[in-house]
Amino acid sequence: MSVNRVHARIAGTGSYLPGEPITNDDLVARGIKTSDEWIFARTGIRARHLAESGVSASDLAVRAAQQALAAAGRAPDDIDLIIVATSTPDYIFPSTASLVQARLGIGNGGAAFDVQAVCCGFVYALNIAEKFIRTGANQRALVIGAEVFSRILDWNDRGTCVLFGDGAGAVVLEAADRPGLLASVLHADGSHHGILCVPGQIAGGRVTGDPFLRMDGQAVFRFAVKVLSEVAGEVMTAAGVSAASVDWLVPHQANIRIIQSTAKKLGLAMDKVVAMVDRHGNTSAASIPLALDHAVRSGQIQPGQRVLVEGVGGGFTWGAALFDF
Ligand code: ACO
Repeated sequence: MSVNRVHARIAGTGSYLPGEPITNDDLVARGIKTSDEWIFARTGIRARHLAESGVSASDLAVRAAQQALAAAGRAPDDIDLIIVATSTPDYIFPSTASLVQARLGIGNGGAAFDVQAVCCGFVYALNIAEKFIRTGANQRALVIGAEVFSRILDWNDRGTCVLFGDGAGAVVLEAADRPGLLASVLHADGSHHGILCVPGQIAGGRVTGDPFLRMDGQAVFRFAVKVLSEVAGEVMTAAGVSAASVDWLVPHQANIRIIQSTAKKLGLAMDKVVAMVDRHGNTSAASIPLALDHAVRSGQIQPGQRVLVEGVGGGFTWGAALFDF
């Protein structure tokens, strides 16, 4: 009997966090004029992980990918597509995905490329990988979010440096004969690029412009709350399901107040929301797969349960995906 393998399912998850947690008090001890009380009250963040100098996004991505492969029961050579979502790649080129492919020992493999959609990068990458699989072009993808945001933070800007962390998360997405991903939607509106950006570049052998993350926090807050609830509704409509059928919301982990506000607008109780922002801070493209992997390994998300992931990031970009795990 022929099997119609037109669907894409998540077969395994993995993640990696560098080093020991750095608490808010540790930041104070390092000379940043802030407090645990200020940071926690406004963001819900208690700690983050920061990569040692010399540790790159590909280092974190490889560790997360190896875990995801093991969870899926697959070997590196089973992978024919690698997409890494990152805004902090190892190099201008080659892509971080190419470096991950080499480090995994995959020679002469399928496509490997990076996606740059900042904190929505993982949702973008998942959406793209699903399309490659559903056309039949590829059978099994590694979809990775990996960031070393600590490298683009201005540690003299207490309004931003306390918010972010480093890490990586990964999933193996593979062809299947029953639906895994039910629907996904992506959006962008570049007219908001100025409220969250790193407005620098390399030219003539020098960094020109500003190489650090700059943000209008209140404008970002308002925008994020608005589009996250809209896009969650949109993806559920696209899949033809209601919020009542969603077992877990795994949102981008930027700020607990944004997460709570989105859950409230969707009518989802917080015990259906995976929130790791207290321990990870905002790890940008890594935040959703990191939280997803944590929820899977801790036994919160069970096979067969319905999961909604959603993100918003610089660009601005935003999107959501709904899948049965
Ligand atoms: N510690 C102590 N005080 C601080 C700190 C700090 N780390 N940072 C700023 N302050 C001070 C400011 O100097 C200011 O002092 P002043 O009143 O004497 O001038 C005061 O705190 C208030 O500053 P605001 O920037 O107005 O603080 P706000 O209440 O807006 O909170 C925050 C800032 C937490 C960034 C908030 O706007 C926010 O959460 N925005 C969402 C942004 C976000 O989550 N971005 C993540 C990236 S985007 C994404 O992932 C989609």
